[in-house]
Amino acid sequence: MKKICIIGSLHWDIVVNTNKIPKKDETASGSKVHYLFGGKGGNQALSSNRYGSDTYFIGRIGKDNFGKKILKTLKKSTIDIKQLQVGSEKSGMSVAVIDKKGNYKATIVSGANLSIDYKKITLKKNTGILLLQNEISEKINLIAAKKAKEINCEVWINAAPARKINPKLLELIDVIIINKVEAEFYKKSLFQNKFNKITKVITLGSKGLEVQFPDGDHKKIQAFKVKVKSTHGAGDAFIGAMASYKLRGNNFISCLNYGQAAAALHISSTIKQRNKILEKDILDLIIKNKT
Ligand code: RIB
Repeated sequence: MKKICIIGSLHWDIVVNTNKIPKKDETASGSKVHYLFGGKGGNQALSSNRYGSDTYFIGRIGKDNFGKKILKTLKKSTIDIKQLQVGSEKSGMSVAVIDKKGNYKATIVSGANLSIDYKKITLKKNTGILLLQNEISEKINLIAAKKAKEINCEVWINAAPARKINPKLLELIDVIIINKVEAEFYKKSLFQNKFNKITKVITLGSKGLEVQFPDGDHKKIQAFKVKVKSTHGAGDAFIGAMASYKLRGNNFISCLNYGQAAAALHISSTIKQRNKILEKDILDLIIKNKT
């Protein structure tokens, strides 16, 4: 079976539950704090690995305590981390606040993620999908995408957070996954005729998603209705699961549905329960929804 390569960010996340997300100049009282493994790259790697894909990860951490915690989580998975770089920089981290409805705001400090050494990146010949995000430097994304094309590997990007994308990189992308806010940002650049060969997936939270295919076909897919506990990392759960299902030869629409089910289970589970979600739970939810 082909492998999935994820090159991206690793963060140690500090996630605070609060009754109210503070406004400007306001201090709000939080009710709980969670210290979690994170970073879009890391989260997507865990998700793709959890749902059965042979996943290898390339990224960078520091030698500090956050780096040690990130490493411990990666080591508990079966992700191949032989190309994980360790530097003298501070490890990446994020701070997020989440209110009772699951609304979420966050800030990241990239640290070591921005010092990935491109000379140490090797894409294995049997890689089927290279998955990138925007939390590392664009130079790395471009170099990696070029290497991917040399071995006939698809390039997927979760272009988050939104930032201007080099047209040279856009030309190498097969699939882009963005949310509603990011789609607004990319409206002018991405949706031009020139980039029609990119499959665009726009996630819409509880409203599901829209997909636009290179042949002009487009579809809207409904989200699964679940009680939300927290939306933190939901997009990453979706992308990792979807890429994993695609790698196993499934058609794109069923992969989107599979990813949506994985995200639904993720947002309706507690942090402890999330680590125990299995492929069987995803398939059960899909069947339940059809009947
Ligand atoms: O998508 C969620 C992730 O974004 C968090 O884990 C946080 O670290 C940020 O990178």
